[in-house]
Amino acid sequence: MTKNDRANFGSKIGAILAAAGSAVGLGNIWRFPFETGNHGGAAFILIYIGCVLALGIPIMMAEFLIGRRSRANTAGAYRQLSPGTQWKWVGRLGVLTGFLIYSFYSVVAGWTLEYILQAVSGGLNGQTAEGFINTFNSFVSSPWRPVVWSVLFVLMTHFIITRGVEKGIERSSKILMPMLFILLFVLACCSISLPNASEGIRFLLQPDFSKVNSKVLLGAMGQAFFSLSLGMGCLCTYASYFRNDTKLPRTAFNVALIDTLVAILAGFIIFPAAFSVGIRPDSGPSLLFITLPNVFQQAFGNIPLLALLLSLLFYVLLALAALTSTISLHEVSTAYMHEEFNLNRKKAATLVTIGCILLGMLCSLSLGVGSQFKLFGMTLFDLFDFVTAKIMLPVGGLFIALFAGWYLDKQIIWEEISNRGTLKVHIYRLLFIGLKYVAPISIILVFLDQFNVFG
Ligand code: PFF
Repeated sequence: MTKNDRANFGSKIGAILAAAGSAVGLGNIWRFPFETGNHGGAAFILIYIGCVLALGIPIMMAEFLIGRRSRANTAGAYRQLSPGTQWKWVGRLGVLTGFLIYSFYSVVAGWTLEYILQAVSGGLNGQTAEGFINTFNSFVSSPWRPVVWSVLFVLMTHFIITRGVEKGIERSSKILMPMLFILLFVLACCSISLPNASEGIRFLLQPDFSKVNSKVLLGAMGQAFFSLSLGMGCLCTYASYFRNDTKLPRTAFNVALIDTLVAILAGFIIFPAAFSVGIRPDSGPSLLFITLPNVFQQAFGNIPLLALLLSLLFYVLLALAALTSTISLHEVSTAYMHEEFNLNRKKAATLVTIGCILLGMLCSLSLGVGSQFKLFGMTLFDLFDFVTAKIMLPVGGLFIALFAGWYLDKQIIWEEISNRGTLKVHIYRLLFIGLKYVAPISIILVFLDQFNVFG
C-alpha cells in the first residue's frame, strides 16, 4: 500500500473525538473508580492528575507526532523513522500489549451487554444491595454467559473496523461521545443527591497523603497510561490517519481534558452511591456493576419505569464507550497485520478477531470454572490487567519518551508539533523537558520504588 492510499479522518473534530473515543471507556468508568477506591481516594486522584500532566500529555504528543510523521502502523512507524535499528521493538511491544488488553477488556465490555439485557427485562428491579452482589458474582463466574457476550462484543467491533476509518471509527465517535458526557452528568447529579452521599464526596475530595506509597504511585501511573490509551501505539496508529492541519498540541490537551473529566464524573457517580448504600469503595472490579444498579434502585425505586430507563441508558452508553475503545484496540493490531504482512484489511481484522475471542474466553473462564488456576497468585484476568497496565504500558511509555526525547531529529519534532512552522507553540520547551527528563526519570523511579530500592 502506498502512503497515499491510507485512510484519513475527515475533519479535525473527528480526529479529536476518535482519539477521545479511544481514551474514554471502561478505564474511566469501571477501572478508575476501583483503582481510586483501592488506593484511598482523593490523594490517588491528585497524583493521577499529576501523572496526566507530567507524563500523559507529553507522551501523547510524542505518539501523535510519530504516527503522523510516518503515516504507518505503530511497528512500521518506528521502522520508518529509525531504519535498521531495534526501535521497531517498541512498536511490536505495543501491538502485543494492545492485544492482551483487548482480550480482558472485551470480557468486561461483554458484561455491559448482560446488564443491558437485565435492565430491559426488569431483572435489576426490586433487588437489595446483597442481591446485586450475588447477581454479579454468579453471572461472572458462570461458564458460558459472559463468554457469549464478550464474543458478541468482539464481533460488533469487527463489524465497525471492517467499515474503515472514516465511516466506521470517526462517524461512531462523533455521535457517541457527546451522548455519553450528557448522561454521565445527569447520573452524577442523581448520585450526589442520594442520602449519605456526602461521605462519598468527602472520600473524593479530601486527600489523605499518609496513605501514599509506591503502590499508589504505580497505580496512578498505570491508570493514566491505561485511561489515555498511551504506551502501546494506539494513538500513534490513530495519528497516522490525522490530516496535516490537525493541531497536535491542542488535540492532546483536549483528549486529556475530556478523559480526565469523564473519570472524575464517574467518581462522582460511583462513590456517593457506594457510600450511600454501604458498599465498600475498595470492592474491586465489581464496584461499578454493583453500585450502579443500586443507585437506580435507591433513587427511583418508587418510579420503576424511570429506574429501568436510566439503567438501560447508562449500560447502553457504557457499552458504547467501551466500543469506541475496543475499536481502537482492534485497529492497532489490524493496521499492523494489514501493513506489515500485506494482508487485506478484512483478513487482518478477522485474524485479530479470532485471536481475541480465544484469549478473551480464557480470561472470562478464569473468573469462574478456571479460578483455581493462578499465575503469580492471580487469575488470568487479573494478571493481564496487572501486567499490561502496571508494567507493559509504562515500559512502552518510557521507550516512546526516550525515542522522541533523545533519538528523533529535533527538526522532525518541531515540524510536526508546529505543523511545519505554521503554528505558534509555546509549550515546545516544556514538551522537550517532559520527554527527555521528567517522563523517563519518573517512570524509572516508580519502578525502582516497587522493588524497594529506596528502602
Ligand atoms: N483508554 C481506554 C479506556 O480508558 O477504557 C482503554 C484503552 C484503549 C487502553 C486503547 C489502551 C488502548 F490502546
